[in-house]
Amino acid sequence: MLRIGMLTSGGDCQALNAAMRGVYKSIMNNATEPVEFYGFLNGYQGLMYGRFKLLTDRDFTGLMTKGGTFLGTSRTPFKEIREPDKDGNDKVALMKQTYYKLMLDCLVMLGGNGSTKTANLLSEEGLNVVTLPKTIDNDLYGTDMTFGFQSAVDIATRAIDEIHTTASSHNRVFIVEVMGHKVGWLPLNAGMAGGADIILLPEIPYDIKKVADAIEQRAKTGHQFTIIAVAEGAISKEDAALSKKEYKKKLAKSKYPSVSYEIAAEIQKLTGREVRVTVPGHTQRGGAPCAYDRVFASRLGAEAGKLILKKQYGFMVGYKNREMVKVPLKEVAGKLKVIDPKSEIIKEAKMLGICFGD
Ligand code: F6P
Repeated sequence: MLRIGMLTSGGDCQALNAAMRGVYKSIMNNATEPVEFYGFLNGYQGLMYGRFKLLTDRDFTGLMTKGGTFLGTSRTPFKEIREPDKDGNDKVALMKQTYYKLMLDCLVMLGGNGSTKTANLLSEEGLNVVTLPKTIDNDLYGTDMTFGFQSAVDIATRAIDEIHTTASSHNRVFIVEVMGHKVGWLPLNAGMAGGADIILLPEIPYDIKKVADAIEQRAKTGHQFTIIAVAEGAISKEDAALSKKEYKKKLAKSKYPSVSYEIAAEIQKLTGREVRVTVPGHTQRGGAPCAYDRVFASRLGAEAGKLILKKQYGFMVGYKNREMVKVPLKEVAGKLKVIDPKSEIIKEAKMLGICFGD
């Protein structure tokens, strides 16, 4: 008997269901012994408190087009994982208890950065773990691509596309705030796809005067409107020079709901132009996965199935240089895949005339 536990952890994204379906189908179609699949509810919480359901074929039908995760998810911050729960229990011990009580052969975890750190910890604690790279941010180290990313790029791009027509009618400056607190893959790609004139990223601190100049330059060449794609985590040069503590303090005191509104107020002051802010927010994580994500997540699922059938544990399945790869969890955990400001894509975007405010 092969007993497999599965959970989704952290913020959801498109194609989580497609990825789980891939794991299930590849195991069921290829296992040479009976299999039991346990789906833990609401992320690591389900593993801690033994909340699960036994999964059957019925759970995996009609999933390809469904966004979200049919198991539910929750955020269990890694920095709190060693703190006791509200009843004073050790969270890691609780998770191990459930794993051993159900006599699991392995745990499949679909998650992003923080969740993968916890998966690595469980692997170090002796559990057999395989993970799949999930996040719209595409910031997981060890893989060129995460599932959810392409779907989110499509949604954020559509948001920019739709702003374009109204921006041009009114000759206004429009800011579209795109998800990405620490890393800007999503705003960079959606910004380029949507034809944004200015893109502000966490990895490239901006000078607001350069941003204002770029708007004026456009006006001089006859373009009276400007579209700016701003990452949630875009940061000015002055703020980037602050210590983490000082910056947090500044944010806590800020009168603006997000960085985009601060940028809007500054542009208005410097250029006298009308600025509007649009925040697509969680729509970027919602709805059906795009075709790319459905295929990609299914492939990752099948690769995870392959590892489990070969009893190879302690890996994240990833995609590097156009090949599916297995990356040791300890190599992935705790690292972010950030944009290099000197990378080809940034150089190309600059050649196209996109301003990054640097
Ligand atoms: O990590 C995915 C993500 O969507 C980020 O892009 C975003 O900053 C964050 O999650 C939002 O988190 P929450 O859903 O907890 O508000």
